[in-house]
Amino acid sequence: MTRHVRIFDTTLRDGEQSPGASMNVEEKVLVAKQLARLNVDVIEAGFAMSSPGDFEAVQRIGREVEGPTICSLARARPEDVDAAANALKGAPKPRIHTFLSASDIHLVHQFHMTRDQALTRAVEMVRHARGYVDDVEYSPMDATRSDVSYLCEVVEAVIDAGAGTVNIPDTVGYTTPQEFGEIIRTLRSRVRDCDRAIISVHCHNDLGLAVANSMAAIHAGAGQVECTINGIGERAGNASLEEIVMGLRTRKDFYQAETCVRTEEISKASRLVSKITGMVVQPNKAIVGANAFAHTSGIHQDGLLKEKRTYEIMRPESIGLTQSRLVMGKLSGRHAFREELTKLGYSLTDEEINAAFDRFKRLADQKKELFEEDLEAIVSEAATKVPERYSLKAMSTQSGMNQLPTATVELQVDGRIEKETGTGDGPVDAVYRTIAHVTQTRSTLLSYVVKAITGGTDAQGEVSVRLEQDGETVTGNGADTDIIVASAQAYLNALNKLALQLERRSDTGHKIGLC
Ligand code: KIV
Ligand code: ZN
Repeated sequence: MTRHVRIFDTTLRDGEQSPGASMNVEEKVLVAKQLARLNVDVIEAGFAMSSPGDFEAVQRIGREVEGPTICSLARARPEDVDAAANALKGAPKPRIHTFLSASDIHLVHQFHMTRDQALTRAVEMVRHARGYVDDVEYSPMDATRSDVSYLCEVVEAVIDAGAGTVNIPDTVGYTTPQEFGEIIRTLRSRVRDCDRAIISVHCHNDLGLAVANSMAAIHAGAGQVECTINGIGERAGNASLEEIVMGLRTRKDFYQAETCVRTEEISKASRLVSKITGMVVQPNKAIVGANAFAHTSGIHQDGLLKEKRTYEIMRPESIGLTQSRLVMGKLSGRHAFREELTKLGYSLTDEEINAAFDRFKRLADQKKELFEEDLEAIVSEAATKVPERYSLKAMSTQSGMNQLPTATVELQVDGRIEKETGTGDGPVDAVYRTIAHVTQTRSTLLSYVVKAITGGTDAQGEVSVRLEQDGETVTGNGADTDIIVASAQAYLNALNKLALQLERRSDTGHKIGLC
């Protein structure tokens, strides 16, 4: 009989712990809405106690995103559980996920606790969380390096205390598929009343085994898997949602298990997360990489032309990859624009529609035909707008062989118009140096990526930059048919986010870590 495996998405919590992948609240809400369209079972929206931004993200996602259970992480401390419960007030299906280490390495060296103390605290915190919500998850951190008898004791005790889900994390990506499958089987056979709870798994990818370990655990009976879009997460990342979901779908014959994920939304989710975090998906990445469905060898192409199944184990359409669809043109009106967005699954407020429509009109003047991907870029830009301390009014550049690259930039800075000309090593460098001078900012450019949104020489160029200043990292995006203009917009978008983040930080202090 086919079992249902729950998909617990932690892109917004563990995924956000990827170096440089921080997202602001609006961006998190946008990603959460896409996760709801994907139909994941649980969204871990953040770690409420860690910062006011995380608290607000959990709160807003709990109130605004319909469908999945919304979860907040909480260390096994009363104040963390209280913060999670407060943030989740108003969420129709709230879950508190609390955790403490189970391995001696962590307990002795980091937490300075005995096994007994950790077990008592785990039970107390599960009970405390149950005082607020019915749905409580407990994670014995570093489970795969813990003594298995002690792990069984902890799992049994937290189930007794009321945890409905017990998650077994491979926190440092240390285990192997055979070993992890065995751990899950041991828990299921040795823990009294194990079936009263769902056994979940949470695998990190330090040895490149996160998906294989998760699949082995599912095969051994795990009922929930924690994963992230594009596999982003702490260090080498988490198990990738799209690989697990498509693995289960494609090999249902073997796993006898399925998820409720609407796989046709995978490709869109991958693009959105990549754009917002600035983390590029490697071309050969399984399922969502640019080459994942590209067959180049003559023998393969010959086979495919005769019968798709010769070399294709999944259809590109099953993850939402279709021929770019022409959706709108210059003469399309606001009503048609709104309808098209609804068809694409976006429900925007009137204010967001107005901002997106203005952008659409400007783009339609530059580009005759607009495709689905163009609308997606417009919508994500409009929905993640931050207050604009700096905005671009006009710009021009001069560059070429044997010429000194020069940029003239006119900006609005805190309401004043400022214009300046500067030079650089290339046109983008000239623009960036001039903008930094006008805005008197001193951020460091960590990465600069440009790609075409659709095909054709009139395609919009989408630029994504990552900036760092005083320990804050942000990603800025810009799209335009002129890539130098898109570069300026991406840089200014990042500077605006940085200004907001630094201002919030001076009001509220640093984000706290997990331990
Ligand atoms: O990797 C880990 O152990 C975690 C826990 C908080 C579940 O992320
Ligand atoms: Zn983790």
